[in-house]
Amino acid sequence: MSTPVLTFFNHKGGVGKTALVYHLAWMLTDIGYRVLTCDLDPQANLTAAFLDEDRLEKLWGESRDEHGCTILQCVQPLTQVGNIKDPVLTKITPELSLIPGDLALAGFEDTLSAEWPNALGSSELYRPFRILTAFSTIMQSGAEQMNASVILADAGSNLGAINRSALIATDYIIVPLGADLFSLQSLCNLGPTLNRWRQDWARRKHNWEQPDFPLPDGAMHPIGYVVQQHGIRLSRPIKAYDKWVNQMPEEYARNLLNDNKGPYPATPAEDEKHALATVKHYRSLVPMAQEARKPIFHLKNADGAIGSHAAAANDARRDFKVLAEKIAKRIEIGRT
Ligand SMILES: Nc1ncnc2c1ncn2[C@@H]1O[C@H](COP(=O)(O)OP(=O)(O)OP(=O)(O)O)[C@@H](O)[C@H]1O
Ligand SMILES: [Mg+2]
Repeated sequence: MSTPVLTFFNHKGGVGKTALVYHLAWMLTDIGYRVLTCDLDPQANLTAAFLDEDRLEKLWGESRDEHGCTILQCVQPLTQVGNIKDPVLTKITPELSLIPGDLALAGFEDTLSAEWPNALGSSELYRPFRILTAFSTIMQSGAEQMNASVILADAGSNLGAINRSALIATDYIIVPLGADLFSLQSLCNLGPTLNRWRQDWARRKHNWEQPDFPLPDGAMHPIGYVVQQHGIRLSRPIKAYDKWVNQMPEEYARNLLNDNKGPYPATPAEDEKHALATVKHYRSLVPMAQEARKPIFHLKNADGAIGSHAAAANDARRDFKVLAEKIAKRIEIGRT
């Protein structure tokens, strides 16, 4: 049995994907799940959130195997004549591990693009499929090592070949959105792209009737969206962003779920089925948490979370707990 993979995905940048993966990984761990996170964004921001520079230097340097190995170090032998290297997980806590990202992962994009048409060929199917499903193989192997209940993947902000492979490995998608026109627009490209990737992957799977190893389903099932308040410009009247945010229930249903009939909820607050949460703007708690390399809801007095900051950290704990529980229920993950 494979471990469910949940990817936070939107090709619109800066909508809080990485912050969500980071905070939900910690929260799911806090409420009793075993979580593997995987940084599939060549910008490696999730990795930088988890690891300090000392650990990063070791990981990206010579003595890497003691400290884990990056996603790129796992796929690299494949680009020559070798096979996938089993991941050495970077342990954050006994219940939480990371497959770190790598800036040089960007170089794998060309290999993935080249093998995409080859998976429709009539011979030599092993290599193209091995490469296209490498992220899936590595994440599943890592999850098995630590007996994870769920895998959370962070992806970069584009619709390129790395993200297509990340999505082939994905069972469930959450779409983070900013409260702006750009995020609303992103839904119009995202839905059709996911439809195409699902179909293209199904066609390739169909082409390899007797695969030599298990291939992921590539279900990419959207389980909801999260609206981020942090992008809102405070100087603007509330109405300016309400205008965009209130169109999200309809655009999400039309584009991500192919629901063209409606009726559509008039606001995300009324969209109980698909709006998973509105994430608050945490202001100065964000740099404080980054400095302490902790999620906001783990900040203590000693980290500087005093008075109203401590209260805000407690509110964050409550909000992320509700969101984590909702997600766990929606994708039916069990405590392992
Ligand atoms: N709830 C929040 N409150 C305040 N700031 C936030 C919040 N969530 C994220 N941020 C900040 O907003 C910025 C963008 O967030 P993040 O990096 O998570 O987005 P992303 O979608 O992963 O971006 P990218 O497209 O670069 O991968 C970061 O500086 C982050 O610290
Ligand atoms: Mg990011």
